[in-house]
Amino acid sequence: MIARIHHRLHSYDGVQAIEFRKFLQDFGRDFSAMLSSEERPEQVLVEGIELNLPAAIAIPLGFVVSELIANAAKYGDGRIAISLQPDSALGYALSVANGGPALPEGFDPGASTGLGMRIIQSFARQIGGELRIGRGDDGHGARFTVLFPGMTNEATAALFASSLPHQSKRIIT
Ligand SMILES: Nc1ncnc2c1ncn2[C@@H]1O[C@H](COP(=O)(O)OP(=O)(O)OP(=O)(O)O)[C@@H](O)[C@H]1O
Ligand SMILES: [Mg+2]
Repeated sequence: MIARIHHRLHSYDGVQAIEFRKFLQDFGRDFSAMLSSEERPEQVLVEGIELNLPAAIAIPLGFVVSELIANAAKYGDGRIAISLQPDSALGYALSVANGGPALPEGFDPGASTGLGMRIIQSFARQIGGELRIGRGDDGHGARFTVLFPGMTNEATAALFASSLPHQSKRIIT
């Protein structure tokens, strides 16, 4: 999974702003293909707004999504729904929801011994984001939401039109 996301993110080398919905759709398609090859019925569905994100935000978020989808496939049932929406709390909300058994009451990600939750929490923190955890639709399954501050598409474009030092544009090389 890490190799997969690395590969996709590498294709953004030298690109300043990443069209994040398109990234999620491509990523979801790859992941769906992988799941169905394992004869699992899950499909990954992406909905929401298009958002140009600077690589410094998009790359950590990519790792978060990767871990959330992996968990949704591992612990949930059925369709995995990814949603990217504006949100009044911090700016934007990215959520990954799945059906299946409901998350236990009082689920504490901090108490998890898994690597996934640690990756999710530390990358979310890195981008000034917050993780919210709850049940999915109808009280089934789980929904993990990362609230994060994003710049507007215009502000992002303006930022990258200004003279960022070349090195800082290349987050992963
Ligand atoms: N979508 C989900 N539905 C239900 N339970 C979940 C979901 N995501 C995570 N969990 C619970 O949270 C725990 C911690 O998740 P985490 O990703 O940290 O660990 P893991 O997936 O078990 O291992 P790793 O990510 O290191 O492969 C899981 O063991 C599982 O009990
Ligand atoms: Mg995991």
